[in-house]
Amino acid sequence: MAAHGGRPKRSLNKEGDGEVAVTVGIDLGTTFSVVARVLQEGPSMVIPNSEGLPITPSVVMFDGNTAVVGSVAKEAIASSPETVVQLIKRHMGSDWFYDHKGVSLHPEHVSALIIKKLIQDASLLVGPIEQGVITVPAYFNDAMRLATRRAGELAGLEVLGLVSEPTAAAISFGYDQRPQEMTGMVFDLGGGTFDVTVMDMDHGHLTVKATGGDPYLGGANFDKALFDYFVERFSDHTGLDISDFDVLPIDIFAQTSQDWLARATRAKLDLTALHRTTVVLQAAGRSMRLEVTRETFESLISVLLDEMVDKAASVIREGGVSPGDVDHVIAVGGSTRVPAVRKRLEQLLGRAPETASRPDEAVAQGAALFAASRQMEQGDPVVLSRDARQYLESFSVTDVAAHSLGVLAYDRPRAQGGRGLNSVVLPRNTALPFEDSRTFYTAHPGETSVTVQVLEGDDPDPALCSTIAEVQVSGLPPNRPATQPVTVTMRYNRDGILEVMARDDNSGVETTATIERTERRYDDRDAADQLVKSMEVI
Ligand SMILES: Nc1ncnc2c1ncn2[C@@H]1O[C@H](COP(=O)(O)OP(=O)(O)OP(=O)(O)O)[C@@H](O)[C@H]1O
Ligand SMILES: [Mg+2]
Repeated sequence: MAAHGGRPKRSLNKEGDGEVAVTVGIDLGTTFSVVARVLQEGPSMVIPNSEGLPITPSVVMFDGNTAVVGSVAKEAIASSPETVVQLIKRHMGSDWFYDHKGVSLHPEHVSALIIKKLIQDASLLVGPIEQGVITVPAYFNDAMRLATRRAGELAGLEVLGLVSEPTAAAISFGYDQRPQEMTGMVFDLGGGTFDVTVMDMDHGHLTVKATGGDPYLGGANFDKALFDYFVERFSDHTGLDISDFDVLPIDIFAQTSQDWLARATRAKLDLTALHRTTVVLQAAGRSMRLEVTRETFESLISVLLDEMVDKAASVIREGGVSPGDVDHVIAVGGSTRVPAVRKRLEQLLGRAPETASRPDEAVAQGAALFAASRQMEQGDPVVLSRDARQYLESFSVTDVAAHSLGVLAYDRPRAQGGRGLNSVVLPRNTALPFEDSRTFYTAHPGETSVTVQVLEGDDPDPALCSTIAEVQVSGLPPNRPATQPVTVTMRYNRDGILEVMARDDNSGVETTATIERTERRYDDRDAADQLVKSMEVI
C-alpha cells in the first residue's frame, strides 16, 4: 500500500533538502526501536524521539482511544500491567491478540502503533516521512515478515523492503570500515532475540553464507534469570514465596513481579559496569537487601550462554568456515555489552569482538542506507553524501532464506494409501531471491482447481513441519480426465516473502494461484486495521 499514491515522492522537508521526501530505516526491536535516515553529510543518522532520546521502548499502553508508546508506557507496566503490551515482536506472525474494547489487536496492529509513534516523532525533526525499510531478525519466517510489512503499511509507511538485522548491521559496518575481502560474523544479541550471521564482504558486495539464531534468547532472559534468583533468595530470607498463588493475590503478584523485573534489569545493567550491586526487594510488608555479584549473575545465565555459543558455532559451520577464518566479529544489540557474553564470544573465536561504535544504532543506520539503495534502484531522487552514494553504487546484498520451504507430496496416490512427505523446494541458507517449480496433478476427472500445501521446516515428516500456507490453483480448463499436470513455481522474493505462480502444462496457460496463509485466518482484521489507523498515538 502506498501511503501517498504513486512515485516519484516529492515533498519539502524542513532541512530544505530539496523536494525529496524523507526515507527512513526502522529497527523495530523487541525492547527498543530506533529510526535513522541518510544525510547529505555523512552516512546516516539516528533521529531522536520527542524526548530527545535515540531509542524508544517498544511498549504500548492503551488509554481509551489513545495509544501511549515508549517510556511512559514502560513506566506504566508496574502500576497497570493489564493496559500495557510489551515484547510484541516475540508474537509476530502468531495468533496472539490483545482485546481492546472487544476488538482483537494482533501483533501487526500493536507494532503499527509503535511505528506510527516513531514516524510521528521523527517527522517533528525532519518533516514528512513517506517511505522506509523495516528490519527483521534473520530467522523471521514468511508469516513474521508479512506481519512486519503490514505493520509498516498500517502505520502509513510505504515499505520499500525488509532487511535482516544482521545484514543491516553489516551494511553500516561496511560503510564505516570499507573492508576489502573478508569473512565477517554479525553477532546480534538484543532484548528478545539472538541472531548470528556469517557473511563474505568483498568491497561493497555482501553475501550472506549462513544465518541462524534463537527467537527466545536475549536480555529479557537474563532479566528473568535474575528475577527467579530474587524470588528464591527472598523466599529463603523472609519465608515468603511470591510465586506461590496462595501467598499473594494475582494482581499484587503481577505488580510485585513487574517491579522486581525492573529491578532485575537495573541490576543487570549495574553488573556490566560493576562487580557487585545491591537490590532492595519488598513484598507483602517484608523486605530484604540482596547483594548480587557479577560472578553470581554469570552463573545464573551460564546455560543461556552455552546455548548462545553452541548456536553461533553451528552457524559458523553452516557457513562453511571455521571460527579461526572469521576476520571480523561485529557485535550489535544491547546485550553484547554484558561482559560474560563478550568473554564467551572471545573464547569461541580466539579474539575479542569488535563492537559497532553504537551497538543500539547500527541496525537502524544500516537500514537507512539500505533504504537509500532501494530508492536509487527505483530511480527515485535521494539526498546523499557523495561518499555514501559511491558506497551504495558499488554495493550489493545477497541474503539467504532462514527456513526451508517445501510442499506436501505423496509417495503414492493418496487413494492407494500414499504417505505424505515434505518435499523441500527451497533449502535453508539458499541465496535470495530463489525460485523453483514442482509439477502437481489433478486428482479427479473434471477438476478445475488444485490445492498445494506449503510447509516450513527441514524434516521429511510433514507432522514435524508447520503448514504456513495453502496455494489454491484455480481456473484450470474444465472437462478433462484426471492427472493433468500443473506446474507451481514458488519464489522467495528478496525480502524473504513467499510468492507463487502456476501454469497449466497442457494448455500452457498461466493460471491463478493465490496464497492463503495459515496465520491470516482471523475474522475481525478490518475492524482492528481501522482502529489502529484512527487511533491517536502519543
Ligand atoms: N549496559 C548494558 N548491560 C547489559 N545489558 C544491556 C546494557 N544495555 C542494554 N542492555 C540490554 O540490551 C537489551 C536491548 O538491546 P537492543 O536494544 O539491542 O534490543 P532490541 O533491538 O530491542 O531487541 P531485538 O534485537 O532482540 O529485537 C535489553 O535487554 C537491555 O537490558
Ligand atoms: Mg535489535
